[in-house]
Amino acid sequence: MIKVSVIGAGTMGSGIAQIAATQGHEVCLYDNFDGAIDNATKKLHKILNRLVEKERLSKEEKENIISRIKFTKDIKEIKNSGLIIEAIIENLEVKRKIFGEIDKLVNEDCILASNTSSLSIASIAAACKKAERVIGIHFFNPAPLMPLVEIIPAVQTSDKTLKNTKNIIDKWGKTTVIAKDTPGFIVNRVARPFYGEAIRIYEEGIANFSTIDWSLKEIGGFRMGPFELMDYIGNDINYTVTETVFSAFYYDPRYKPSFTQRRMMEAGYLGRKSNRGYYDYSKEIPQPTKDRDLAKKILWRILSMLINEAADAVFLKIATKEDIDLAMTKGVNYPKGLLHWADEIGIDNVLKQLQDLQEEYGEDRYRPSPLLRKMVKENKKFY
Ligand SMILES: NC(=O)c1ccc[n+]([C@@H]2O[C@H](COP(=O)([O-])OP(=O)(O)OC[C@H]3O[C@@H](n4cnc5c(N)ncnc54)[C@H](O)[C@@H]3O)[C@@H](O)[C@H]2O)c1
Repeated sequence: MIKVSVIGAGTMGSGIAQIAATQGHEVCLYDNFDGAIDNATKKLHKILNRLVEKERLSKEEKENIISRIKFTKDIKEIKNSGLIIEAIIENLEVKRKIFGEIDKLVNEDCILASNTSSLSIASIAAACKKAERVIGIHFFNPAPLMPLVEIIPAVQTSDKTLKNTKNIIDKWGKTTVIAKDTPGFIVNRVARPFYGEAIRIYEEGIANFSTIDWSLKEIGGFRMGPFELMDYIGNDINYTVTETVFSAFYYDPRYKPSFTQRRMMEAGYLGRKSNRGYYDYSKEIPQPTKDRDLAKKILWRILSMLINEAADAVFLKIATKEDIDLAMTKGVNYPKGLLHWADEIGIDNVLKQLQDLQEEYGEDRYRPSPLLRKMVKENKKFY
């Protein structure tokens, strides 16, 4: 079994190290910050102890997992690895620098992967001499629990690197999907309207936060409403992803961030972690207006926008339709694959809703994907 090294022992890095060690790999977890190593060690012990308490792991298994992980501040310890996964801060220059260093330290056949959420894999790969062995492996938080992993080959990545990477992550029991090296990959691109359109509906005064959340859960079957979810993710993190995707798409109005969320972030109303976001968690959450007709309209508007994103991702060959549906159900727990959903409600109905919105608002934000028009013309379904 190959040795796996993880660079960066923060939230994602320590979770990825836990997965690899649980799968039986010898693991090296490197961080250049003393506190991070101590924190990761403590956190991992705590998580594994809890699994022992819940009888999901025996004491012996726990000891074995811990003994397989070497926590280190010495980057030279990553030598002889077969796979490196980088999970340091989201900064291109810092990532490029560390990839240049790693490239020199490890053997020729070692795969070098980044867990970046938004940066270009091509640009990270270009910092390495052997760029064909560089790839994106995007886990979701918390990594040990979330089944989805997006695998992102860059233009430089070889077929062999892609095949070997997918094999390893599949063996770890994860659901893998392959995405093109474009902003937001699959999930962080296709999911934008879930937040953006919900905020827009609120800004227009159509409904309040709790009514919009209720509509998506009650009629749509989503596990969490958009405002609850943004509060859970953190308005700072969610806003930054939106802004990054927006600028990376050369300011396509479809991904435009909102002032409402920006002000939340600026006010320090970050969500659950600050006890206040769209909701004030020190008080009772306001009751929604349980108007089913209004709720259907709200769901329908957000869902059409989501389907439009998913269809456009198929149109632009970001991923296969199957992988896009898998990504949204396994990565963000959507009740159904968006393209399956589109077939169910009728692509002509989705197109009509988008055309109505575009006509009403005159905004490019609502432009339908050419694929939807083509499918309606040809009377086709996704499946
Ligand atoms: N948190 C999430 O929900 C999430 C989900 C998917 C992907 N990601 C991506 O994963 C990466 C890590 O995110 P995180 O949330 O775990 O961050 P984090 O801040 O929790 O951890 C980052 C760690 O990297 C270390 N570090 C920073 N610079 C370093 C360097 N030059 N050398 C070695 N170690 C260094 C820090 O000490 C810190 O321990 C980012 O690229 C992020 O975009 C995050």
